[in-house]
This record gives sequence, structure tokens and C-alpha cells, in this order.
Amino acid sequence: MTFPEWFNDKFGAYTREIYRDEVPASGAQAEAVSALLGPPGDLPLLDLCCGWGRHAAPLAGKGYRVVGLDGCRYFLEQVPETGTGSSGGSISAVRGDMRELPLRDGSFGAVIQMYTSFGYGTDPEDDRRVLGQVYRVLADRGCYLLDLINWTVARRAFNGKYEQAYPSFDMVEDCRIGPENLLRVKRALLFRDGRKAHIYEFEIRMFGVEDLTVMLEDAGFRVVGLWGDFDRSPYQPHRSYRMIAIAVKGAR
Ligand SMILES: C[S@@+](CC[C@H](N)C(=O)[O-])C[C@H]1O[C@@H](n2cnc3c(N)ncnc32)[C@H](O)[C@@H]1O
Repeated sequence: MTFPEWFNDKFGAYTREIYRDEVPASGAQAEAVSALLGPPGDLPLLDLCCGWGRHAAPLAGKGYRVVGLDGCRYFLEQVPETGTGSSGGSISAVRGDMRELPLRDGSFGAVIQMYTSFGYGTDPEDDRRVLGQVYRVLADRGCYLLDLINWTVARRAFNGKYEQAYPSFDMVEDCRIGPENLLRVKRALLFRDGRKAHIYEFEIRMFGVEDLTVMLEDAGFRVVGLWGDFDRSPYQPHRSYRMIAIAVKGAR
């Protein structure tokens, strides 16, 4: 499989601005992950599509040995290098494609995939590949937390043209929902300092809870929980902000 250079123009310094409302919640989200997983075990934790490590860092601070994998060079350069002193935790950053993980079978106690890092691209088979890879690298009974935006609510907000001001640019977006629930986004970042506009496009599939559950079960997982947010409230299709699936390998 060819390694996509996809990421390198779709994520960059500007991403932190686009995520500005989300970033302050990173610590609380890591807290919820740690409450779910319990104390660090013998096997490491995989933060799949870790970005710049905004969850990996606080989790390492709690003593987890975190492997953060992402495809984007820019983000990986910003992942903090090692652990955080006395906690015993650590972070190793790995560049890789989530569809073909360069990681050993059964080598992780848990996998987290945060902030809608699933469903990219036009080929639905890619999603099955990713779930197959997560299943493969997890140890038996290992836990997989998959955090997606709640598309049942969000799809209403992503159909049309939008403008949003950020500190260093204006973002102009054209979002269209196509066949098979594929959301196509054309985005222009118009920088205020006179830099050339950054224009890019991406596609992401919007899942309903039933589709997601069936996909996880087809991959061999057992879905043991569905949260509507990191406060661990139960998922409500028409109200929740997030759709967070908690799944376990095997143990049917
Ligand atoms: C929405 S961001 C979320 C990043 C991080 N989890 C967070 O919460 O800040 C999605 C991430 O997925 C990564 N990504 C997308 N497709 C990927 C692939 N095929 N393999 C590895 N990483 C990928 C991007 O580089 C980006 O860092």
C-alpha cells in the first residue's frame, strides 16, 4: 500500500487554531481514558492518529507507556520526546499509515483513536482495514476507544458554505454530503499576514451508530459501551456531541 502524503497539506500549524475549542479539553479527555482503562498494565497504549500528542502527553504523565502513531510529519515533530519523570510513563512517536500499522500483533493493551480520526478518504474498505489492524495489534481482551463526532447531529452543520474567523486567518468552507454519507470539504485558509491562501480538500465518511457497531463487530470486536462525550454520559443520537465507542477484542 502506498503511503499517502495526504496528511502533509491537510494538517499544519494552523490546525491548532482550528481545534482551539477542543484543545483545552485534552486533559479531561485523557482523564476519562485513564478512568476507563485503569492503571497502566504491562503492555503499552497505542494513540492511533495521535496528532501532536495532546492526549499522549497527559497519559504518559499518568504512567502509561504510549506509542503515538500518525502519518503527519509536522505533528510528529511536536510530540514530546520522552516521558514525564517519576510517573514511569513514556511516549514514542511512530510515523505510519493506520491502514497498515508497522506494529507487532497483540502488542498493545489498549488503543485509542481520538477526535474523528476515522473514515477518511473515498474507499470504505480503508475503514475495515483500519479496524482489522487495530484488532491485530491489540492483545486479547484489549480495549479500543474510538472517538467520533456524533454525525447524526453534526451532519446538519456540515452542509453548505461557512466562514469562520481565527486569530491568523479566515477559514472559508464548502461542505457537501454526497452518496454513501461521504462528506466532501473544500477549505481555504486566507491568512491575514499576506501569505498565499492554503486551499485543500478532504473527504470523511459520516457513520451512524448502527453502521459503526456492525463494522466493529464484523472486525471481531464486542461493543461494551457508547458514550455521548468524555463525561461518560450515554450516547443519545439526537443530542450527544460525540459518539465514542468502547470495544473489546474477543471475549464474545
Ligand atoms: C482530526 S486529527 C486528530 C488528531 C489527534 N487525535 C487529536 O485529537 O488532536 C486526525 C489525525 O489523523 C491523522 N491521519 C489521517 N489519516 C491517517 C492515516 N491513514 N494514517 C495515519 N494517520 C492519519 C492525521 O495526520 C491527523 O493527525
